[in-house]
Amino acid sequence: MKGIILAGGSATRLYPLSKAISKQIMPVYDKPMIYYPLSTLMLAGIREVLVISTPRDLPMFRDLLGDGSRLGMRLEYKVQEVPNGLAQAFVLGKEFLNGEPGCLILGDNMFYGQGFRTMLREAVAHVDNGQRGACIFGYEVQDPTAYGVVEFDESGKVLSLEEKPKQPKSNYAIPGLYFYDSTVCDKAAALQPSARGEYEITDLNKLYLQEQTLRVQLFGRGFAWLDTGNCDSLLEAGNFIATIQNRQGFYISCIEEIAWRNGWITTDQLRALGKEMKTEYGRYLERLAK
Ligand code: DAU
Repeated sequence: MKGIILAGGSATRLYPLSKAISKQIMPVYDKPMIYYPLSTLMLAGIREVLVISTPRDLPMFRDLLGDGSRLGMRLEYKVQEVPNGLAQAFVLGKEFLNGEPGCLILGDNMFYGQGFRTMLREAVAHVDNGQRGACIFGYEVQDPTAYGVVEFDESGKVLSLEEKPKQPKSNYAIPGLYFYDSTVCDKAAALQPSARGEYEITDLNKLYLQEQTLRVQLFGRGFAWLDTGNCDSLLEAGNFIATIQNRQGFYISCIEEIAWRNGWITTDQLRALGKEMKTEYGRYLERLAK
């Protein structure tokens, strides 16, 4: 399965922070934000990834991550000229996916919690191997009005999906992580822009709901889905990562560690990556290699 990270947009809610640089390159404690969504794809076992961003910011991601070979991966890059919707990822990514299933993650979405890898592998299994369907997630929040919202009946069957409803029918927000079968590019190409002029990911998901092939997996209350939409949530995300890392000694979303644990790079390669960095992050990689 292949993955797409959508890391464009203008992030005006973070101005002046984001006036001259991409939001998704900003630090979340000790690493650039894009490490977190990239690590999610890696945990799902996805080794081929397309990074989509603005003409201004794409070269920076290429500088940061290169062709992926240092992680035993293959990374490609594509410009989104105008930020006209999340579903456009599958129009821009059609050639890259080449008729295969695909996973989309938003470059500012961060996930952390026990059992995450198992959930990801289940989502991959739902849409891989020629099966039809999509898998999205639900996460209970106090105020879901800023998100896609999913409504269920008592048996857990999905009744509706709505984008940023003023009066939400449930408290379940849909995080920015989506798994789709190989029909996704054709479905995305057929979408019409919404009233706010965007090709909405929620409209894409509705097509799978109509087909009755949409699966929604719920994250439990012990799970963290973090948002970095404004300055407060950006700071809170950084503090959260620092708190867990400093308490446990394990790094969150350390892409070199995940590549190594996945068997994509050798212990010698991990050690060499650690030696390049004269920081605590580099020492962590060297400790793992030991
Ligand atoms: O974070 C989860 C939410 O993400 C979902 O619950 C919503 O259903 C989904 O529409 C989306 O809502 P947002 O309001 O967060 O979308 P936003 O327009 O802020 O875009 C999310 C990220 O994707 C942001 O970092 C910028 C980037 N982006 C956005 C658009 C519209 C692009 O790279 N290209 C785009 O065309």
